Amino acid sequence: MIKIAPSILSANFSRIGDQIAAVEAAGADYLHVDVMDGQFVPALTWGPKVVEDLRQLSNLPFDCHLMIAHPERQVDAFCTAGAGLITFHLEASDHAQGLLARIRSKGVKAGVALCPQTPVAMLEDLIDDCDLLLIMSVNPGLGGQAFIPRAMEKLREARALIEKRNPACELEVDGGIGSSNLCDVVAAGANVLVMGTAIFADADPGGTLRRLRSLL
Ligand code: DX5
Ligand code: ZN
Repeated sequence: MIKIAPSILSANFSRIGDQIAAVEAAGADYLHVDVMDGQFVPALTWGPKVVEDLRQLSNLPFDCHLMIAHPERQVDAFCTAGAGLITFHLEASDHAQGLLARIRSKGVKAGVALCPQTPVAMLEDLIDDCDLLLIMSVNPGLGGQAFIPRAMEKLREARALIEKRNPACELEVDGGIGSSNLCDVVAAGANVLVMGTAIFADADPGGTLRRLRSLL
């Protein structure tokens, strides 16, 4: 089944409880939580305290996407805060295999994200240790950007690698996904779709999510 992971980066935080409840009631599968540190990416968002507090608002698994330098310094805090899945950037980690193993040892699912510049081939020796691969279809750091077309081919490459080596691994795509391309990314092999602007820019995020799901 195709999973939808609304990204709260585009949510209205003055009404975050309502916004999360709306997408949860509409059948969201994960809540995508973008963590930015002002270093790996220019923008800043939130840390484990906010994740811990939001955790009380929802039963959805939190899909924490760490766009941070030195993720090894932070993953334990995000595990404790209640993350269901932690994805860090290959570009930010010198010892990705060890970090994946460490996250999994805490009972949390572990994923690796690739920026648009990083080839799927870089995952050859990591795929066995991953619960999820995240292909970025924009440069990380901002919501509302346009989908980079080359990501479609990278999804096909990643799907082929997963089928060959670790079929249980999920394949997530993040950035510029909406009604115009969600069927195409699924056809290319993605099974988890992150959507921020497409869901939360609308006054009715629950209804929007249902509409997007009906296109699949
Ligand atoms: C971007 C983030 C995304 C962002 C996607 O760096 O990783 O999760 O929320 O936003 P949209 O769906 O608006 O491209
Ligand atoms: Zn993200």
